[in-house]
Amino acid sequence: MARLLVLASGRGSNFLAIIEAIQKNEIKNAHIVSLITDRENTGAEHYAKIHNIPVKIIPYSRYSSKEEFHKALLEEVKKFSPDLILGAGFMRILSKEFIQTFPFRIMNIHPSLLPAFPGLNAQRQAIEYGVKVSGCTVHFMDEGVDTGPIILQKAVEIPENCTEEELSSLILKEEHKLYVRAIQLFCENKLKIIDSPNQKRKIVQILN
Ligand code: GRF
Repeated sequence: MARLLVLASGRGSNFLAIIEAIQKNEIKNAHIVSLITDRENTGAEHYAKIHNIPVKIIPYSRYSSKEEFHKALLEEVKKFSPDLILGAGFMRILSKEFIQTFPFRIMNIHPSLLPAFPGLNAQRQAIEYGVKVSGCTVHFMDEGVDTGPIILQKAVEIPENCTEEELSSLILKEEHKLYVRAIQLFCENKLKIIDSPNQKRKIVQILN
């Protein structure tokens, strides 16, 4: 049984999609050991409670410094001995130490086709740039912002005159499916980390 730990800060729709996929046995041999949030009263917390998933809240605002918060977060996560950590709308950049403690065992979902539009407001960035296609990406986290090895991507066509809100909802529908598939692949041991042909970065090979 893979031990999944979810980090979230907000609405929690990706978290819910993961819960439901486990319940439907679309993700096999996995269970969620805990949700950790960095603020009180999130949608994610609400879903955890409904589904009897332990919740740990580590409120960012209660720590005297960023460093103290990240130390507390890492200590808490370690207690659960997770096999896979899932960022699902978690609004903090993880510390270097955190990333190094769980190499290629932290996934994130991002609402653009990386490496385009990393960082905040990816959907707005896409609209403002005027691209005709955007989408979502599941990747392993590394020490950069949205730079880690890409696991899966799904393209979404952007209709004419599309607003940021409309694009966000078109992409979100795909996020829920894509994240579940990436977690399935991890749990089936089908993700292999290899060197890119130019040796400049690690990339993910999906095994049959
Ligand atoms: C999603 O758009 C995800 O790609 C981004 O943050 C948002 C989280 O949404 N990282 P939700 O909390 O899962 O509903």
